[in-house]
Amino acid sequence: MSDYSALPVPPMSIRFDQAAGTLSPAGPTLTRRMSDLEGLFRDQNSWRTAVADGDPIVYSVVSSPVPEIDRELPQSITTIHPGTTGGEFWMTKGHQHPNHQGEIYLGMSGNGGLLMFDGKDTRWVDMAPGTIGYIPPGWAHRSVNVGSEPYSFLAVYPGGAGHDYSWVLENGLGQRVWRQDDGLAFVDYFAEV
Ligand code: PA5
Ligand code: MN
Repeated sequence: MSDYSALPVPPMSIRFDQAAGTLSPAGPTLTRRMSDLEGLFRDQNSWRTAVADGDPIVYSVVSSPVPEIDRELPQSITTIHPGTTGGEFWMTKGHQHPNHQGEIYLGMSGNGGLLMFDGKDTRWVDMAPGTIGYIPPGWAHRSVNVGSEPYSFLAVYPGGAGHDYSWVLENGLGQRVWRQDDGLAFVDYFAEV
C-alpha cells in the first residue's frame, strides 16, 4: 500500500450532465464577469463599455469535489457564453500551469476552440461535442466560444499544476480570435487593429 492510502476524497462517482453543463456532486463554482477580464481584450474601450453596461457574465466554471492538491485529478466544466467585445470572441482569461503538467479538455456542447501558446508557437484546436483537446505541459491555454450558443467543456488536470494568470498578461497567447463575417479570423496577439 502506498503512503497515499489516506485519501482526502473517497472513490466516487461524479455525474456530468452534458446538456446542462453541471457536475453532481459539485464543488465550488467560479463566475467570471467582464470586469474580471481586465487587460485581456484587445479593444479596451469596448471592454470598458461592456463593464459599465451591465458587466455581463462571460463564463462560469463548475468544479467537482476533488480538490486542487498534488496527486489528485480535479475536473471542472467551463461554460462560455456567446458574444464578442470589439469583434473579439468571448473567451477565458487563459493561464499557464506553473508546475508544467498536461491537461485534457472534452467538448460537451456548442462550438469553441482551444488556443495554445508555448512562448514561441501557437496552436488552435477546434472544439465540438466529443472532441478531446490535449494541452501538453508548458503550453499556456485559453478557450474561446466561436459559436452562437454557450460553449461547454470538461477539463481534467493534475491538482498540483497551479494556475498562473500573469504569464498570459505578460506574454499573450500568440494570437487572438475575431469574428469575421460568419466565421473567424486570427490576428497576432499584440498587433494594432
Ligand atoms: O484548468 C483549466 O484549464 C480550466 O479548468 C480553466 O481554469 C477554466 O476553463 C477557466 O479558464 P481560466 O482559468 O483561464 O479562467
Ligand atoms: Mn489549465
